[in-house]
Amino acid sequence: MNKHNYPPIFHKCYEFTEAETARSSGIYPYFKPITRSQGSKVYIGGRELLMMGSNNYLGLANDPRLKEAAEQVVERYGTSCSGSRFMNGTLDLHEELEGQLAEFVGRESAVCFSTGYQTNLGALSALLGRGDHVISDKFNHASILDGIFLADGTKKKVTLHRYKHNNAADLERILQHIPEDAAKLIVTDGVFSMEGDIAELPKIMELARRYRAGVYIDEAHAIGVIGNTGKGTAEHHGMDQQPDLVMCTFSKSFGSIGGFVAGSSILMDYIKHFARSLIFSASMPPANIAAVMKALEIMKQEPERITSLQENARKLREGFTSIGFNIGHSETAIIPLVISDNQKTFMFWKALFDRDIYVNPVIHPAVPPNRSLIRCSCMSIHTDEELDRFLQVSLEEGKKLGVI
Ligand SMILES: Cc1ncc(COP(=O)(O)O)c(C=O)c1O
Repeated sequence: MNKHNYPPIFHKCYEFTEAETARSSGIYPYFKPITRSQGSKVYIGGRELLMMGSNNYLGLANDPRLKEAAEQVVERYGTSCSGSRFMNGTLDLHEELEGQLAEFVGRESAVCFSTGYQTNLGALSALLGRGDHVISDKFNHASILDGIFLADGTKKKVTLHRYKHNNAADLERILQHIPEDAAKLIVTDGVFSMEGDIAELPKIMELARRYRAGVYIDEAHAIGVIGNTGKGTAEHHGMDQQPDLVMCTFSKSFGSIGGFVAGSSILMDYIKHFARSLIFSASMPPANIAAVMKALEIMKQEPERITSLQENARKLREGFTSIGFNIGHSETAIIPLVISDNQKTFMFWKALFDRDIYVNPVIHPAVPPNRSLIRCSCMSIHTDEELDRFLQVSLEEGKKLGVI
């Protein structure tokens, strides 16, 4: 293929060969089409695999009650809203769900977006304006950074500071250097999506109060996962004081797709009128809203799901540590097996895949260079036998490859 036959704008695409090289050597792990999904099992290429890499933490994505709720609303509202929230795409269902979510997270008001990614993109870019400072944990999710970049791109001169991961001393060092009267927003994941550790929220809130900064927390991997009733990071830490804004996605514990941000009514009204990803994108479809409503009901009525998720996660973390894996500082259902070598990470992924276990290999830029890892995550519906098999296969294959 001669790239010079094509306009120069496309040359980089013809020069990109890494994926094809990995595909031809049989170790390409991405975009695997799943043909069926049932509980903790997925079907790929005619084989049944144990899913150990999904964010379906409470097992609700396949719950018959969610499926039924989704089906029922399609009859009344159709399959799409065919417009943005701002224009013709707001349903009574959106507002009903927003009321339920605001109550669940103990805030005045909430706004739903069509994905979690769009929630961060829209809420952060709306809030950040000219001259503002945003102080973001270095391990925050890409959608947070993109929200900040969008703010900077549209309004210019938002100053981004990145503090060392979960390091309050570094956060304070940065806050000290920002002019006292400047507008500041601290942004953190509640549970970090690749490492599975939990933000030091009490310290962050204390610094925010002292330096008069607002706080925005991304609870994508925290709601339904940590805290006694699954309410996330503040509940986990036993805190009364809450961050000013909390966001979460529906693609994880809620078994659907979409996202929301919640806070005071004034903040939500502002976000509704300035979030580009809300205004210029079609709204969350009815079937997904109904699924989230049912998931929320189940989360409240069946707290044992949250308990069994936390027990499964503890069993896996202890199991992996005892057989010699480095799981970093994971305290949650996300368990990284840190391998630190890209080639070995892919080989280990392949070894598990060939033995019918599905996990996710993660390399730079999703993690820092030299911190490639296998991202495992458990669900409340995993059985002890499944977790034991996963640990046993990881032990055998890990030894063969010399990663433990
Ligand atoms: C911490 C965090 N925030 C936001 C998102 C985006 O959510 P969604 O996939 O629902 O768009 C993700 C998804 O991986 C995430 O891990």
